[in-house]
Amino acid sequence: MSKRQPGSGYAIDSGFYGQSDLDSVPKSALNLSRGCGNPTGFAKLKTGEVVVDFGCGGGIDVVLTSIKVGETGCVFGVDFTPQMIERAKQSVIDAGFHERNIELLVADLTKTQLADCFADVIISNCVINLCPDKDAVYKEAFRLLKTGGRLAISDIVFTKGIDSQLHQRFQSTWSGCLGGAISEEDYWQTVKSSGFTKIKIVAKQNLTPEELEAMACCPGDKFTPPPSEEDRLLVEGKVASVKFTALKKLE
Ligand SMILES: C[S@@+](CC[C@H](N)C(=O)[O-])C[C@H]1O[C@@H](n2cnc3c(N)ncnc32)[C@H](O)[C@@H]1O
Repeated sequence: MSKRQPGSGYAIDSGFYGQSDLDSVPKSALNLSRGCGNPTGFAKLKTGEVVVDFGCGGGIDVVLTSIKVGETGCVFGVDFTPQMIERAKQSVIDAGFHERNIELLVADLTKTQLADCFADVIISNCVINLCPDKDAVYKEAFRLLKTGGRLAISDIVFTKGIDSQLHQRFQSTWSGCLGGAISEEDYWQTVKSSGFTKIKIVAKQNLTPEELEAMACCPGDKFTPPPSEEDRLLVEGKVASVKFTALKKLE
């Protein structure tokens, strides 16, 4: 991931998305992309599936999911920021998908108001690290999934212990992706205790200094001030992006 230009989306220069993905998504959605992976690349989405994108932002993964599940599939994008849902709606229109089965909802991920057991897959891209109550988010994901349904998640975790005062300093800019991040061990415990099994880590990469800086100031340093150089150095080598799948097991 190279150093980003102000305002550029993470999809463009991160290498998370292949060229055909980048070519299929409207520029507006690419520019708004703030993910730490590409769950649509490892969710093994199939034609006709029902997919929910937890924290869809400007809609990049909603558009890519719709391409994969096709016209018989269905995509729900959920985000609690009305402005992001408006932008995701525009991305869907710009992609020419306004007649597809796509619903974009303003809701908190801990209480989406969606039905029980209706989704085949829940994807999420660099969102759950931002949620203070991760347990409630994963319980909600479990409630929405059909039995046998699956998660495909890209997120941020701490791989080594972080001094609590340092963590608090990152929490003062909660919208940055380090403030809400928890230890990897606690993260897997949360996923398991919400009922999921067969957690499979697809990839885990320590963030480079450039990625760390971008994640700490997400969605951009205009909104979230960068951490001090000293604090950034203290977390170097201790933060990773993880991509994983998990199952709501067949009974
Ligand atoms: C880092 S951005 C990622 C957006 C998108 N997934 C992407 O890859 O570009 C995080 C998004 O999660 C949303 N979000 C954070 N916490 C949320 C919550 N508790 N409920 C719903 N949306 C949330 C934010 O509004 C924001 O759009």
